[in-house]
Amino acid sequence: MDSSPDARIVDVTAGGDDDGQYAVRVAAEAGRRDRQRTESLEDLERHYRGPEVGAIRRHMNRVTRRHMRIGGDLLDYGCGGAWWKDEMWDGFDTVTAAEIDRGALIEVGRAYPQAVLWHTTNGIIDSDRRFDVVLSSSVLGYIHPDQGPPHIACCHRLLKDGGQLVLTRVLAHGLTNSLRRRRLIAVEGGSFAYHYSRRDLIDLLGRHGFRDIRPVELGLRIPGLPWSVNQALYGAVPGLMGGLLPPLLPFLRIQHMLVATK
Ligand SMILES: C[S@@+](CC[C@H](N)C(=O)[O-])C[C@H]1O[C@@H](n2cnc3c(N)ncnc32)[C@H](O)[C@@H]1O
Repeated sequence: MDSSPDARIVDVTAGGDDDGQYAVRVAAEAGRRDRQRTESLEDLERHYRGPEVGAIRRHMNRVTRRHMRIGGDLLDYGCGGAWWKDEMWDGFDTVTAAEIDRGALIEVGRAYPQAVLWHTTNGIIDSDRRFDVVLSSSVLGYIHPDQGPPHIACCHRLLKDGGQLVLTRVLAHGLTNSLRRRRLIAVEGGSFAYHYSRRDLIDLLGRHGFRDIRPVELGLRIPGLPWSVNQALYGAVPGLMGGLLPPLLPFLRIQHMLVATK
């Protein structure tokens, strides 16, 4: 039997129109991954200090793990490439990785021979499987806001009753983009960034039938300081940057995390 990652990928695209809305985003995302993939994480972190790596990312991963119900069947919906997966996937009986980007699935499949690989060209999944935990990490906020509600509806449908949604690392609407007066920002290469308020996300989850919706503090950025200094602060005093300051200075939050139950 052919067990190459390519052969393991199952097409789970739900019926309906695939109007190509994601094609441009897949290209943008694949380009970003290719640029980063030329280096190891350590090499990248030596010269790149953005919040998706380094002490900030490690802190956010720790917080996510602490609030995730570990065990049973996990769906990592919008899993991206292979980095950080050990930190999120450890302890689950089965892991299913779902993506619009086939290239990301191939990378994940090489690193994780046991993972089930699901490809959906329109972002929506047709399957009878139901999961104990659905992780959606840095998906909302990186797609057009119109694509958010169908993603959350699908998260809800794919959970077992009583299952947990972990919605994390969603770009926060805060001081910087308030000053810019824009929530939706076109990103070079055809992608989008959209900044959500905490209330937007609570309402979105509530409208889709989630209950026990609980926000979790992830962390903030001290404005005016470069990411490198913020990274150093997270390394030195993660409890301050990630726990104590965000409730006092909510407009400086960089990302949101919420957990909710079906
Ligand atoms: C910013 S990356 C985050 C990757 C990873 N979850 C993480 O936390 O590092 C967002 C990923 O979500 C994928 N994606 C976006 N919308 C999606 C959708 N509706 N269904 C499945 N994957 C999606 C993109 O292709 C991309 O790989």
